[in-house]
Amino acid sequence: MTALDEIKIGGLGASRRRVEDARFVRGRGNYTDDIVLPGMLHMEILRSPLAHARITSIDTSRAWEIPGVRLVLTGEMMAQRNLAWMPTLSYDTQAVLATDKVRFQGQEVCVVVADDPYIAKDGCDAIVVEYEPLTPVVNPLQSRAADAPLIRDDKEGQVDNTCYRWEVGDRAATERAFAQADVVSRMQLHYPRSHPSPIECCGSIADFDPATQKLTVYMTTQAPHIIRAAVALVAELPEHMIRIVSPDIGGGFGNKVPVYPGYVASILASILLGRPVKWIEDRTGNLASTGFGRDMYLAAEMALRSDGRILAVRMHADTDQGAFFADAQPTKFKIGLLHSAFACYDIGTGHITAQGHYTNKAPGGVAYRCSFRVTEAMFFQERMMQAAAVDLGMDQAEFRRINLLRDDAFPARTPFGFLVDSGQYGKCLRLGLDAIGYEQFLVDQAEARTRGRRLGIGISTMTEPLGAGNSREYDILGIKMFDSAELRVHMTGKAILRVGAKSQGQGHETTWGQIVAHELGIPAADVIVEEGDTDTAPFGMGTYASRSTPVAGAAISMVARKVRAKARKLAAHLLECSEEDVEWELGRLYVRGAPHRGATIQECAMAAYSNMPDGMEPGLENVAYYDPPNLTWPFACYIATVEVDPETGVWDVLRFVAVDDCGVRINPMVVEGQIMGGLTEAYAMSSMQFQTYDAEGNMVGSNYMDYLLPTAWETPGFELHEVVTPCPHHPIGAKGVGECAAVGGPAAFVNAVHDALSDTGVRNIDMPLLPDRVWQALQDGRDVS
Ligand code: CDP
Repeated sequence: MTALDEIKIGGLGASRRRVEDARFVRGRGNYTDDIVLPGMLHMEILRSPLAHARITSIDTSRAWEIPGVRLVLTGEMMAQRNLAWMPTLSYDTQAVLATDKVRFQGQEVCVVVADDPYIAKDGCDAIVVEYEPLTPVVNPLQSRAADAPLIRDDKEGQVDNTCYRWEVGDRAATERAFAQADVVSRMQLHYPRSHPSPIECCGSIADFDPATQKLTVYMTTQAPHIIRAAVALVAELPEHMIRIVSPDIGGGFGNKVPVYPGYVASILASILLGRPVKWIEDRTGNLASTGFGRDMYLAAEMALRSDGRILAVRMHADTDQGAFFADAQPTKFKIGLLHSAFACYDIGTGHITAQGHYTNKAPGGVAYRCSFRVTEAMFFQERMMQAAAVDLGMDQAEFRRINLLRDDAFPARTPFGFLVDSGQYGKCLRLGLDAIGYEQFLVDQAEARTRGRRLGIGISTMTEPLGAGNSREYDILGIKMFDSAELRVHMTGKAILRVGAKSQGQGHETTWGQIVAHELGIPAADVIVEEGDTDTAPFGMGTYASRSTPVAGAAISMVARKVRAKARKLAAHLLECSEEDVEWELGRLYVRGAPHRGATIQECAMAAYSNMPDGMEPGLENVAYYDPPNLTWPFACYIATVEVDPETGVWDVLRFVAVDDCGVRINPMVVEGQIMGGLTEAYAMSSMQFQTYDAEGNMVGSNYMDYLLPTAWETPGFELHEVVTPCPHHPIGAKGVGECAAVGGPAAFVNAVHDALSDTGVRNIDMPLLPDRVWQALQDGRDVS
């Protein structure tokens, strides 16, 4: 008997085709909106047209008169049930339906439940709300002005529009380092408000059964168990009578982590009516009212030695949180704000401060395809690195090379308290430079400049912390961060794996089976993966921040190892030897010294149900909860080359090289898909995507005519390369990867455009680098914000 070929059974390293795609490409996915329940009603939301206004009256009488309208809910009716306000993940409160004031355009004011969605919309149109307009506050500058209106006058003790203050690092050591600097490099930037914009908007179907008193909610959530806990604690329903089901999800990107008023209102409506109530958000509702990303202003300095070594960094961020502080509290998490900035560099010391501001804009600040605010941290870091290289008169690649952590530095303690696990940063950078032909490009660039052509090259090197917890340091509303997997091997050796994470398109149904194949030798095709149903999946913290592989992936390894340990006992029984004499090879246990005497994992499975030794519990299954000892630290080097047209400001990407090190790759093809998707979003953010508001707080960009998503036509090609540094503490050496490209990619594009303008004195054009902004900068030789 020869050992199994791991790639053939779809184990670690196999580019196995995505099993979930069999239903997606046939239109057989099962999304929330596909679910139709008997007697189901439909809910629509009436939203505020104003950004800041006091509600003087709400008249719902005409809505109630429309045939087919079953229920109209106002904030006042919610308040009678103590549900007008809900707690947020940031220990703030958020209005479910407005009672006193509206605080952003698009805020939920009333809901109407009717026989079909059109009648429900008519019901919304029939409601008359009278508003007394108040002065809107649309940016942090206005928010902190002495005469700014108080947005959160609902909060006791709130005297201004500050929603948090935070600092990390060593202020005194940083001041000392700046006093010794040869060069101080300064930068001011804005990472604009953008939106995760999943193709499927948010929605829920609440189904309260008055007979059994059980509440089932089908919904678009990335974290079903957290929602169950929140419903149990806030609505005071018994937890075992709540079932949250996340069916197929059409993209999350952090947008489907928060609890939204639509979910809460549909649940209450179903409880009141005793019938299923479906709420499906439209595109404008999604863009205008659900968790945005970014909207952070940075003022930063770097203390530099003339030989190019970084002595210290000092950064201050102002974040625009919108009307309610609704994202997972970034200051409370060790990876929450700019903590991870400069983690890949040996920077000596640093000090970072931040202040959050309430404004009359939609709440959020969600981690849009990133771990909390790590995207802003990496963007600011890499823009500062390029500016510092310019200030030092040093080659930008060389400046990075001499400051990157060296291979022998790991595990490396950062000035902000992390332990970076492993990496080969110099190797990744060199591979990227060779792949793009760096030195030759510089020659070509100089030559092209003599002929009036503007070529540019931008580099972004970054690491990010992925995989919260550990439970000592990370929790959500007090619930410790870990994850889980439950594996049941049936008697014929086929298996079902249930996991606490929840895929929104990342391919978990494909890759999780590969981990089982690697650990047990059961072909991946023989493993069904289930996620997203709180009645069946073990408790998990959900999928966001690329934590699935670092945490749930590790739990899968650990549960498979537990199953293997029992299979070893069964094999000893079958082979009539002692357990200590049983050896393991992929998919088979055999007697030490007599390899021909063995039992396959399938034979052991059969024995678990038909021939177990005396005293052994039947069955072959187990559950594992995994609490990671550290975060995983992938690394990436992204390099873009561009050409800027000086006549129009239009810039084209010539080439884009990506070198990613995410440790051991479970499925190289899925990893490449993740990287390409992330780079596409990075290109979108750098070139076209932003949400703005006019002075009245009207949102610009609440539809896909104004808020742009790149299609295959605009998106450049990406050349992908890999380096593998196994994660030392993950059972299979894997690190997270899902968001690296979206986090690190934007700076590569933006740095490339600035490099093309390097002789103009333009230091910064804020994203997105729209042609008119680039053209304006070229005309004036000045920054554009
Ligand atoms: O948490 P999320 O699933 O969004 O991110 P992730 O853990 O980085 O995983 C994204 C996808 O890439 C999953 O299907 C993983 O199994 C896969 N992956 C992989 O094949 N190898 C890695 N080293 C990391 C992720």
